[in-house]
Amino acid sequence: MKFFIDTADLAQIKEANDLGILDGVTTNPSLMAKVGISGEAAVTNHYKTIAELVDGDVSAEVVSTEFNAIVEEGKKLHAIHPNIVVKVPMIKDGIKALKWFSDNGIKTNCTLVFSAGQAILAAKAGATYVSPFIGRIDDANWDGVELIAQIAEIYSVQGYETQILAASIRSSLHIVKCAEAGANVITSPLEPILGLLKHPLTDIGLAKFLEDAKKFK
Ligand code: G3P
Repeated sequence: MKFFIDTADLAQIKEANDLGILDGVTTNPSLMAKVGISGEAAVTNHYKTIAELVDGDVSAEVVSTEFNAIVEEGKKLHAIHPNIVVKVPMIKDGIKALKWFSDNGIKTNCTLVFSAGQAILAAKAGATYVSPFIGRIDDANWDGVELIAQIAEIYSVQGYETQILAASIRSSLHIVKCAEAGANVITSPLEPILGLLKHPLTDIGLAKFLEDAKKFK
């Protein structure tokens, strides 16, 4: 399973990248706004900086909702860096655009996916990645991880090549459960990724080893 970080914060991207386990980055307009990036020039520059920092796919989201405009915006985003993946919302014109990008060799990430039916459409349109938002599904009292398992089963039965990118991750346990359910990728804020390190018995065990090691100095 690949690890992407879900942020536009350069310090957090660097910290995750320094761990040596980072495979890519996802962003969205809300995450860009959170770090104060706005305006076409600043957004373009920020994507370029991220793509040069991390050796892996970087999802950059279109804000157009009409087919021709999505294609034009997506082409511009892709021209920023070869690793830019065009992130397209799960809407009717988005599906058409996913097919266009797929036919023209541009990688895509279909975002705002909340059902198996939407995931089937994204795969049919040739999306490289499909992004079910599991935290927001949990927020609505459904089971986000269960949706990952259902999509994984459908893609396996049907032989779809679209990769399942579990998004809207809120905890380290989400990451573990997504791995179990068959996600190909998780995209997570930094904290749940670092949370995977933690176990009290590791801390207790290490303290004891270090204490005992002093006896042989
Ligand atoms: O990857 C999608 C993500 O950015 C949405 O997360 O926490 O706003 O539901 P959240």
